[in-house]
Amino acid sequence: MFYSDDVIEEVRMRNDIVDVISGYVKLQRKGSSYFGLCPFHNEKSPSFSVSPSKQMYYCFGCGAGGNIFTFIQEYENYTFPEAVKMLADRAGVALPEQEESAENRKKRDLRTAVLEVHKTAAKYYYYLLHTEQGAHAMKYLKDRGLSDETIRKFGLGYAGQYSDSLSRYLKKQGISDALLKESGLVQLSEKSGMYDKFWNRVMFPIMDINNKVIGFGGRVMGDAKPKYLNSPETIIFDKSRNLYGLNVARTSRKKNFLVCEGYMDVISMHQAGFTNAVASLGTALTSQHASILRRYTQEVILTYDSDEAGVRAALRAIPILKEAGISTKVLHMEPYKDPDEFIKALGTDAFQQRIDQAENSFMFEISILQRSYDMKDPEGKTRFFQETARKIADFEQEIERENYIEAVAEKYQISFEGLRKMVMSHLLKGVPVRTQTAARSRTELSREKDTGILKSQRLMLTWLAEYPQLYPQISAYVTPEDFSDELYRSVAQMLYEQLAQGAPNPAKITSQFDDPEQQRKIAQIFNTEVRVETPEEMKKAIRESMRKIVENGIEQRSAALDPGDMAGLQAIIAAKRKLSEIGKLHISF
Ligand code: CTP
Ligand code: MN
Repeated sequence: MFYSDDVIEEVRMRNDIVDVISGYVKLQRKGSSYFGLCPFHNEKSPSFSVSPSKQMYYCFGCGAGGNIFTFIQEYENYTFPEAVKMLADRAGVALPEQEESAENRKKRDLRTAVLEVHKTAAKYYYYLLHTEQGAHAMKYLKDRGLSDETIRKFGLGYAGQYSDSLSRYLKKQGISDALLKESGLVQLSEKSGMYDKFWNRVMFPIMDINNKVIGFGGRVMGDAKPKYLNSPETIIFDKSRNLYGLNVARTSRKKNFLVCEGYMDVISMHQAGFTNAVASLGTALTSQHASILRRYTQEVILTYDSDEAGVRAALRAIPILKEAGISTKVLHMEPYKDPDEFIKALGTDAFQQRIDQAENSFMFEISILQRSYDMKDPEGKTRFFQETARKIADFEQEIERENYIEAVAEKYQISFEGLRKMVMSHLLKGVPVRTQTAARSRTELSREKDTGILKSQRLMLTWLAEYPQLYPQISAYVTPEDFSDELYRSVAQMLYEQLAQGAPNPAKITSQFDDPEQQRKIAQIFNTEVRVETPEEMKKAIRESMRKIVENGIEQRSAALDPGDMAGLQAIIAAKRKLSEIGKLHISF
């Protein structure tokens, strides 16, 4: 980490979480917490909570959570040191000079410089579009139906008619040849010297989620090849991690994202009000793209071109999205080629209808599969359903399989039972029935038990943070070692230390971890709820959780016990004796 714990804690304390988050989310007081609409997922009724006493936030809907550093990292897409810096500036805390390695500093400076070049270039292209020289480019964009507002919003531009307009302009601004080359916007060759990567093209700046220009796409205005040119990968531009339009789409607050192929599709959709559209540019969707999307949405609708390449791209994207935990649907564009053409021809309402009718990705895969079988031939048809049954058998849950059997049976007008038998025979292939079900129920059981005990452990930590007066009573029985998950154990250790010395400080514990995923888990730990109506029920729940945690701790230790370890054995026996006391314990607040 960059800064000492003390500095981080000072910055954290000087930025009240309710204050800071109020700048992003409209919050309303409800009891001891504040609630608002979660900025990390789409929702209609507020489940995003901010606790002034814990100085943490947690969304009961999507599980986003953490302290103020987590919030800034997640909302602004900042790294931890960047979040610290921003909040320090906000509160007027002077940060100690960072000890950054010379190499790091050089890299950071270079990034800043290359970003600056891109900003200058984008402004220059935008300016040229509005001059006489760019009149035909402007006409081209207008002919494609783009409004002034859209052109401005996406910062579209024109790259100039000469092959060195940009290079000359940037050099005049005092930018060095080395930097020009680093930016990827200017190329050098022995023969022709310095020349622009883009000229006489309509320019589409590519922005990161902080609205910083990191690259460009340029389109010819006629039929010349290549139709589109894209910036090369540079120190600031990584194609596999950036999605065109995400800077806008991420704030669209729609329940899903529309993923398409190209610049014009994104722009047309946005112009028509579908501001949740993004594109992976000139490259197939990657797992990095998918995990970025997962941060904003659980559902993607693929709006790829209707041609064969688009179908192939969809088939490739579906498993990648599924892997990232996103469910996918496929929009039917026929008879049009892409969203841009569709919207131009049939308009917004018709496109919305197609969105509503988008097909479940599995059913889409099956319909594509069907094309390679001769459905008029009984044998071909049988093989198609066998293959379909094999795929259905891949679903883990029975209910899921049943639902797909039903959907396929209905769509292709075949018997539900017949298809079900086929699926069953795939499921049983090679695996004796009994062991398979036995194994499944065993893992299912242990998973259930696992989540049960983890929930008890989370509850205990929530209670300790909310009612510190419980600490002496609880700590007499439950020790940090009783917590089974490694993260939970560390959190318990720190919380116990804080409680022994005074007040709980969950937000400070959160700062000890620099991975936002861990920070989220800690927010979950400190925001665990259980339904109790009366104080008596509450006390009962506390005793019950204590008992479960201690019991589980004993089990863990017994399992790990070395048969010769007499002291260990004694400790376990003592713990077991104490365990029986918990039931009778009188809890007082
Ligand atoms: N693409 C590219 N290089 C090309 C062709 C396409 O990088 N030579 C990328 C661009 O990002 C483009 C997308 O693939 O936006 C989709 O290409 P295509 O379907 O050919 O173009 P459209 O988006 O339909 O573009 P337009 O409507 O301007 O013809
Ligand atoms: Mn198109």
